[in-house]
Amino acid sequence: MIAFDQVAYSYGDRALLSDLTITLEPGGFYFLTGPSGAGKTTFLRMCYLDLVPSAGALSVLGLPVADMDRDTIATTRRRLGVMHQDCLFLDHLSVFRNVELPLAVSGQFSPSDADDLAELLDWVGLTPRAAARPSELSGGERQRAALARAIVLSPDMIIADEPTGNVDWDMSLRLLGLLLELNKLGKTILIATHDLTLIRAAKSEVAARILRISEGTVQMAGADL
Ligand SMILES: Nc1ncnc2c1ncn2[C@@H]1O[C@H](COP(=O)(O)OP(=O)(O)OP(=O)(O)O)[C@@H](O)[C@H]1O
Ligand SMILES: [Mg+2]
Repeated sequence: MIAFDQVAYSYGDRALLSDLTITLEPGGFYFLTGPSGAGKTTFLRMCYLDLVPSAGALSVLGLPVADMDRDTIATTRRRLGVMHQDCLFLDHLSVFRNVELPLAVSGQFSPSDADDLAELLDWVGLTPRAAARPSELSGGERQRAALARAIVLSPDMIIADEPTGNVDWDMSLRLLGLLLELNKLGKTILIATHDLTLIRAAKSEVAARILRISEGTVQMAGADL
């Protein structure tokens, strides 16, 4: 699904990550963990084609990033559903319109999608908040809206950056439950999190693998936390 081969990433002349050689398999459930500032968001941004490695070879959905032209980058990105660490909504649009936006922008919109969108909002429990502005949502509601928006184009993989960063434990479990359901449907899941309790909760449900960032590189951790 995603294969890093001797990848490095530097911001300017500051080397942040190096020696990344790691493969994420289709259908897998992965956590990425490590201290604040270790490079979790940077790693995810390379996975969703927002940053290009400074060195090494990266393949995303089977395609070498170095060979991708702009069109290929755009079509590949559409197959990746991203929940950003800060959600990034357009506040002049309702929650419904924000969730719909990737569909509208992709030009794939058809009238039958309205029903699917309503169903999607229902699945994340946001039907009563569909007309609200994003700024009026609670932290957990924002994260659920971000999840709905991330999957509106039926991506093959969901990449979530601290999806439970600002929510209480019950909401964390609810979000995890939604991500587990998506994984059962065959979607590959990659979640950056500090929350070891969340990882433990997931491991009782799924054979989750843990990627740990330390000392500027990412390694697949053993089965134990
Ligand atoms: N655009 C940028 N330009 C320069 N440095 C950056 C940039 N983005 C991130 N960094 C630096 O790279 C390091 C890793 O940042 P990153 O956001 O990947 O960490 P993180 O593990 O996601 O942290 P957190 O857990 O706080 O979200 C930090 O020291 C950060 O200041
Ligand atoms: Mg981060």
